[in-house]
Amino acid sequence: MFITFEGIDGSGKSTQARRLVEHLRATGAIAHLTREPGGSPGAEDIRRLLVEGDPGRWSAETEILLFTAARRDHLERLIKPALAKGQIVVSDRFADSTRVYQGATRGDLRALVDDLHAQMIGVEPDLTLIIDMDPDAALSRGLARKSGEDRFEEFGASFQHTLREGFLALAKSAPDRCRVIDGNRSVDAVAQEVLVCVDRARAHV
Ligand code: ADP
Ligand code: TYD
Repeated sequence: MFITFEGIDGSGKSTQARRLVEHLRATGAIAHLTREPGGSPGAEDIRRLLVEGDPGRWSAETEILLFTAARRDHLERLIKPALAKGQIVVSDRFADSTRVYQGATRGDLRALVDDLHAQMIGVEPDLTLIIDMDPDAALSRGLARKSGEDRFEEFGASFQHTLREGFLALAKSAPDRCRVIDGNRSVDAVAQEVLVCVDRARAHV
């Protein structure tokens, strides 16, 4: 089973992905915790080019190529082999992030994103958990981490508002695999809802 977490920066995806994998492992499943951009050695190298430095470092088109290159490596080396063995893969972000961050924020590049996805990736998650929350609160959570990986947070608050709308629209367009979860709550409350969604989806796979 392939599960992804999506949402704006600082919404709690990494925290929830970690909690979910701990839970799955405790039930005896083999579950991989991974992330994008990254998840394989080559993709982690590409990650540094994308998340560090000046916001204007790359155009949206160049970003699409770099994120897709990283995703292709991640897919070849980790995701596909694990799924082929019947294991669970939980990824902190995947293709929906490219659809929203690159496809819907700086001009309408969605067709380009979709073409490249069809040519190079061609895989969709079984379940996508979109952690939705107030962009201003998420931005202050995210920047408070001082991770040095804030290139996208530096685009500012209105960019985060556009992203939120993008994720909600995406959830509506793919209701079979997307679940929107309110992230403006305690870690435990969000984690509990995540488990309900995952258990339901596992019963149908
Ligand atoms: P993301 O991966 O979406 O950027 P993180 O899981 O890294 O988000 O969370 C961003 C920050 O907010 C971290 O410092 C984390 O500890 C904190 N955090 C995560 N979930 C919650 C929550 N439900 N309530 C309060 N703080 C949270
Ligand atoms: P991430 O480490 O998940 O950031 P955060 O913890 O702040 O949510 O991802 C790094 C950044 O890369 C994030 O700002 C979103 C961006 N991103 C894209 O723009 N397109 C993509 O396809 C992916 C996977 C991430």
